[in-house]
Amino acid sequence: MSERVYIFDTTLRDGEQSPGATMTPQEKVRMARQLETLGVDIIEAGFPAASDGDFESVRMIAAAVKNVQVAALCRALTTDIDRGFAAIKDAAHPRIHTFLATSELHMKHKLGKSPREVMDMARAAVSHAASLTTNVEFSAEDASRSEPEFLAAMCELAIEAGATTVNIPDTVGYAQPAEFAELIRFLLGRVKNSAKAVFAVHCHNDLGLGAANTLAALAAGARQAEVTLSGIGERAGNASLEQVVMALRTRPTYYNLETSVDSEQIYPSCRLLSRIIGMPIPPYQAIIGRNAFAHESGIHQHGMLKDRRTYEIMTPQSIGRAGTEMVLGKHSGRHALKSKVEQLNYRLTDEQIDLVFAAVKELADRKKQIYDDDVESLILENVFRIPDKYRLKYLTVLAGNIEMSPSANVLMEIDGKEAKVSSFGVGPVDAAFEAISKLTGKKPELESYLVNAITGGADAQGEVTVRIREGEKTSVGRGSHDDIIVASALAYINALNRMAKKEEERECAAL
Ligand code: KIV
Ligand code: ZN
Repeated sequence: MSERVYIFDTTLRDGEQSPGATMTPQEKVRMARQLETLGVDIIEAGFPAASDGDFESVRMIAAAVKNVQVAALCRALTTDIDRGFAAIKDAAHPRIHTFLATSELHMKHKLGKSPREVMDMARAAVSHAASLTTNVEFSAEDASRSEPEFLAAMCELAIEAGATTVNIPDTVGYAQPAEFAELIRFLLGRVKNSAKAVFAVHCHNDLGLGAANTLAALAAGARQAEVTLSGIGERAGNASLEQVVMALRTRPTYYNLETSVDSEQIYPSCRLLSRIIGMPIPPYQAIIGRNAFAHESGIHQHGMLKDRRTYEIMTPQSIGRAGTEMVLGKHSGRHALKSKVEQLNYRLTDEQIDLVFAAVKELADRKKQIYDDDVESLILENVFRIPDKYRLKYLTVLAGNIEMSPSANVLMEIDGKEAKVSSFGVGPVDAAFEAISKLTGKKPELESYLVNAITGGADAQGEVTVRIREGEKTSVGRGSHDDIIVASALAYINALNRMAKKEEERECAAL
């Protein structure tokens, strides 16, 4: 009989802390629903005390999902814990996750506290959390660089005070697999009440060992893995969910451990995340990258044709990469769209379905077959788009390979008022961006510009992702259209809208 490992997904908290990965509350709710479908056990929804926006997102997620625990991260302070619990109290299965650093370095230089004071703080925080819910997790931040005997004493007191999960984070990605496994074995043996709690691990990827350290710890007896989709997270990221889950699944006799994750939902989940945060999945990324199941060399292809197992240790189907899909077209009705939307796991109101239906019809006039990715893209554009300060009304460009400067004519609506301008540029995209900058009075630095074909064929929709910067502030925007110049303009305007929205929130918070 294999033992169960709990999957704690922190894409929406640690993942969102990764530069440029900010999501709107609606996008977080969409991601949370997908994580529920994926079958994770716990979703860490955010850090409610960090801002009103974070509080609201956590509250919305707690209300939206039912078959998964929802955790709120809180510092070891009564005020944080009260605020965190207020955000999740209506969840079907709430969890308070409180943390405090235990390494000499962090206690002395970050907290300015003695080990005794840290122990008292942790005891008080966990007891307070346990007075609110029976589901409490305590994390010993920077555990892998903490003095092991002190760490064991901290785990023991946290369990005594009511923690049902104790987490041993490798906060700075410093640990090595064998050493980290040894630490877990030591703690399980040394902490007297260890049987009363689940031991968790949370490994960062600074040396590229996040998944390796997590797996080593699970083999040593930890039973909760804290992971993120595609490994996004602070600095170099966190252990990736797909790598940990698929290693356990592909090597069942080695680990003898199982999870409740539906592996066929892995690729759709990572793909959705990539769409939302506007960061493409790198081609060489393990499991989910475009090349992960591509076979180029003749010898490999020959082997694959004889027996796939020669060069493939798992199938693309097992992570949900090659399913058959029902495509929509010009003649598909509202009913077909509604069931497609449900199948894609969105819960839209009738008015939202109407919006998407109109967009599907418009696209179907120009494109024969509408795939799942097209529909998803139209939903993200039409429903999850934040209320716009800037809107594109029309765009025409003149460009070609004869001697002339490419130009763009742009008509926009800015705070409800129409304005029009023409501009020149190095190419048609540059000309369009120049025109938008003139109209909005915003000239951010364009940090990145990426074009992707959403689906195959010459009539594929182009999906453009841009990242812009104004001083310290960055923003990611996404746009899709079957004309890539229009998709580019939409992405640029979307990034400007997101930046304007963030500024508005900052101003409100300062009032
Ligand atoms: O990396 C870390 O230590 C954390 C804790 C808050 C669990 O993210
Ligand atoms: Zn972390």
